[in-house]
Amino acid sequence: MKEAALENRSSKPYHEEDIGKTTVHPQYRVDLRKYSEKEYNKFVRVNTVSDWSMLSWQDIGKPFEVKKYAKEREAWEKTHEKAMDPHTSWTYFNRAFHEWFMKDVPLEKDRTKQEFLSSLRSFQPSEVSHALGNLVQLHLWNYVHRIQDGIWDPRGKRALFQGLLVHRPRILFLGAAEGYEAMQLGAMYPGAEIVMVDYDEYCKTTRFAEFPESYPFLGHNPKTGQDKIIYKDDLNIEYVVDDIRNLPYGKEFDIVLSVGLLEHFPDEYKQEAVDWHRRFLKDNGYAVLTTPRNQLRSRLYYHVMADVMNHTYRELMTVEQMGLYMYENGFDILRHGYIKVHNGLICRPR
Ligand SMILES: C[S@@+](CC[C@H](N)C(=O)[O-])C[C@H]1O[C@@H](n2cnc3c(N)ncnc32)[C@H](O)[C@@H]1O
Repeated sequence: MKEAALENRSSKPYHEEDIGKTTVHPQYRVDLRKYSEKEYNKFVRVNTVSDWSMLSWQDIGKPFEVKKYAKEREAWEKTHEKAMDPHTSWTYFNRAFHEWFMKDVPLEKDRTKQEFLSSLRSFQPSEVSHALGNLVQLHLWNYVHRIQDGIWDPRGKRALFQGLLVHRPRILFLGAAEGYEAMQLGAMYPGAEIVMVDYDEYCKTTRFAEFPESYPFLGHNPKTGQDKIIYKDDLNIEYVVDDIRNLPYGKEFDIVLSVGLLEHFPDEYKQEAVDWHRRFLKDNGYAVLTTPRNQLRSRLYYHVMADVMNHTYRELMTVEQMGLYMYENGFDILRHGYIKVHNGLICRPR
């Protein structure tokens, strides 16, 4: 009995008394801090556009295309003498990105520092430059993911996702990867039934499977009306490996979610990608989307981390550009804003 309790403590290490705290782990940050009404605007800056029908592409320009690709993609294209197709590029991206989430950052910092020092002793410029590159990437990853928590950004995501009028929602996550945002939504809206979809099987078998069971999501307890800590295995999740184009569902979801999907489609395919968010949505449902922001620090991040992140076509956009893609393809924008490194939209088909 005592042992079971101890085991539970280690696999689910956070409890209600930890709400309000933040802790840095070797791989990621846990952030159970809440925000007051007044602080809300610190985590999400909302509603800069008052009338979407007044916005035109001429006014706001088009997104910034990231042109620096991962070396793996360039090598593949040279060998195969053709452009890498999107599915293959995602399989490369998911493996590369997952490897970084798994790093024990303090240990790796020591290792890359030693590697750099010994490269200096080698007097080989290519070795020095390679080791320096690794060191810079690791420090950037540490800052962006582990210190700033810019990728998962639980406070920004909670601020963006709050206030949806749903009860025990069915949530469809398009291009789910490790599934983080659907789990955050599921924690906030108890009784949720989550369907994650990704056509790269590795996302189900490895990215999602290895997402830490011990990571706490700050959610809601409907019995007490208080906050509650929710873990991955508390949630009702089905993970489907399939192409979004093949999904058999009708208009049956309360929330259709995508994170980092729309910006991977050049303009001629945007309408199709937008349509995926409508096809499976109940009449009163919400489409919830985020995409990376076009800001100087994001451009720098995608430049330095190109070998990890840039296997696919990628744009960086403003929330106005993202909103206009949705608006001109038949969605009303209910809420829009910036969180740390992403734009966010809550919208509904017109
Ligand atoms: C950029 S990722 C999403 C970002 C994610 N939060 C992460 O951490 O990687 C987009 C995901 O969508 C998936 N995807 C892209 N096109 C798809 C399609 N047509 N059907 C199913 N999954 C797709 C990719 O395999 C990839 O895992």
